[in-house]
Amino acid sequence: MKKTGTEENMQTVRTVLDLIGNTPLLKARYLGKCELFLKLENHNPGGSIKDRIALSMIAAAEREGKIRQGSTLVEATAGNTGLGLALVAAQKGYKMILVIPDKMSQEKISHLKALGAEIVVTRSDVEKGHPEYYQDLAERIARETPDSFYINQFANPANPAAHEQTTAPEIWEQMERRVDAVVCGVGSGGTITGLSRYFSRVSPKTEFILADPAGSVLAGYVRTKKLGKAGSWLVEGIGEDFIPPIADLSRVSKAYTIGDEESFSTARELLRSEGVLAGSSSGTLAAAALRYCRESSAPKRVVTFVADSGNKYLSKMFNDFWMADHGFLRKAASGDLRDLVGRPFHEGSVSSVKPADTLMTAFLRMRLYEYAQLPVIEGGRVAGILDESDILLAVHTDVSAYHKPVREYMTKNLVTVQPSTSLEEMTVILEKGLVGLLYCEGKFYGLITRVDLLNHLRRRL
Ligand SMILES: Cc1ncc(COP(=O)(O)O)c(C=O)c1O
Repeated sequence: MKKTGTEENMQTVRTVLDLIGNTPLLKARYLGKCELFLKLENHNPGGSIKDRIALSMIAAAEREGKIRQGSTLVEATAGNTGLGLALVAAQKGYKMILVIPDKMSQEKISHLKALGAEIVVTRSDVEKGHPEYYQDLAERIARETPDSFYINQFANPANPAAHEQTTAPEIWEQMERRVDAVVCGVGSGGTITGLSRYFSRVSPKTEFILADPAGSVLAGYVRTKKLGKAGSWLVEGIGEDFIPPIADLSRVSKAYTIGDEESFSTARELLRSEGVLAGSSSGTLAAAALRYCRESSAPKRVVTFVADSGNKYLSKMFNDFWMADHGFLRKAASGDLRDLVGRPFHEGSVSSVKPADTLMTAFLRMRLYEYAQLPVIEGGRVAGILDESDILLAVHTDVSAYHKPVREYMTKNLVTVQPSTSLEEMTVILEKGLVGLLYCEGKFYGLITRVDLLNHLRRRL
């Protein structure tokens, strides 16, 4: 007898590894002609589709006698593959070394370390072929470490095999064996290669559609069979500047190029409309799927992926300030200095202190929001500015000054500017190491710092 959903959910598993795969499929409430389904890979225990390949690549190395209890695994990644590998390695008792470029966030590094991985940070400003390039370094560490194995997801056949043997048949059954199109992104190419191999056997008519971030060379390659010049993009986990050795794009019939802005806004929409907290690449995939559905003249059953959880992107794509700083959430321009203010005071978005707050409160608030200075607000007006050097001067000879009120240490020599102040004048103020207090019609509008000016100039690009 078929189990009810509740009974299935009540199962007890032996280890967390038993929770990898068999992810749910959600039918999106998309109102067009097509039916759109989302394979929720964020439900894997490590939070992404990469748990599948971590399990499969480690199992293959075990089967082939390449590793044994106590062996060391080495990989070059700070992304989801690192999380998946660190999780599986810890459960199976392997040592895990992950080589990551130095531009990766502290949060990711903390997560990997908390899983027990050893982290080797290397340069992000060097290219393939340089001994400190993260992949070359990982390969060397594996060569020089006794009893170790270089996982190399980009060339490891157990990567596409994981999708051919698990992801694809799950989709096939969950879709009741009727799949017109699969919309997929490519990082290593494992997903698209494994899925297209399986579907070429069971349903050769199923179309494969590539969703690619603007800046990646893959979509251009699908269209022209030529490798263009790569640019940069902010969406994480998909898009490449080369064709990965395991990526087989021969069954891809169409490719959509999606810009960061559309990816992020679609991912945000996915949360609002479907309640799915998905990562940035899910926005790229869903945007491509929606375009495909709109262009299609016949009703189609289309599958795409939520490859990872949006938890990792709360301070980026799901943060309105981050979006605005990057020019993705556009406000109507005022055509004056107000356009520079990233955090208008009247929106309640300025973090500040009161004159009676302690230096400790001010310091902790600066650390929390990563600001170098805070306005000191009293009765809706700025009474002063407190910056890191004010705190340092106060506490370096007497740490008890942390308990003293901000009022005693704030700078009262304030530079006030008006919306009509020119950008040149503002630049001179900032060059002197000062910040500007913008007043508009007698009311405090917001601070203008160097970061605000830099963001403003970047948005003009
Ligand atoms: C975040 C993320 N990682 C990885 C992938 C797929 O990667 P790969 O080509 O390595 O299987 C996707 C695909 O959608 C993705 O969204």
